Amino acid sequence: MNASERIIVALDVDTEAEARAIVDALGDMAPIYKVGLQWLTTAGPAPMRELIAAGKQVFLDLKLFEIPNSVAAAVRAAGRQGVAMVTVHASAGSAILHTAVDAARPWPALKVLALTVVTSLGDADLREVGIEAGVDVQVLRLARLAEAAGCHGVIASPREVAMLRAVLDPRMLIVTPGIQFVGDAAAAPGRADTPAHAIGAGASHVVLGRTITQAADPRAVFVAVRDEVERAWRNAPRNN
Ligand code: C5P
Repeated sequence: MNASERIIVALDVDTEAEARAIVDALGDMAPIYKVGLQWLTTAGPAPMRELIAAGKQVFLDLKLFEIPNSVAAAVRAAGRQGVAMVTVHASAGSAILHTAVDAARPWPALKVLALTVVTSLGDADLREVGIEAGVDVQVLRLARLAEAAGCHGVIASPREVAMLRAVLDPRMLIVTPGIQFVGDAAAAPGRADTPAHAIGAGASHVVLGRTITQAADPRAVFVAVRDEVERAWRNAPRNN
């Protein structure tokens, strides 16, 4: 995997023109796009199919948390579209995680990623919904659940990556959104951090949206992120 293949560009857009402008600007440079609820609800699956037909990998961020029958059906639908990665909430529990993994089996290239704790949440948010454990403890608990259920990886914030890399099977992917590039990561809301810190701590992938997609020159920002990822990777504990 080269450094570009560790960067997932989030296509959080409202119009086809915006999506096209970003994909065209990045060209061959960016191999993976995250398609989430905003763009999927706006445009349906056609643009996603177009991306896949053009040789891109699609990370379909469905954040599934449903009854097993519905989760399995959604994962199979993702597999039929040729999606590379699909997300399910780990807090849905191990039965649902197992269901998602089983549903993905006919598509060996489809990876099921379990979302631990949404990166904008903190300890107080968890307490509000009855979870007394702090974010770290909850992320670790959910990541272990996901691993035991056979998920291919987890989603967590950059701040939990080192903890997870130390305990998870080295083959587990650790995908980190909440990435701030230049600018002051410490001032960012939630649990954000830089690509260098995330990859340096052992993340396999970083997700960047607005930093790249709203840049005056998305290509230049992508190159800068890629260089940072490349440097950080050389010194990172591993692997995946
Ligand atoms: O903030 P940005 O535009 O880079 O967000 C890209 C994606 O990362 C979003 O689609 C969202 O799902 C995820 N994200 C996150 N936690 C954050 C910020 C973004 O999970 N703090």
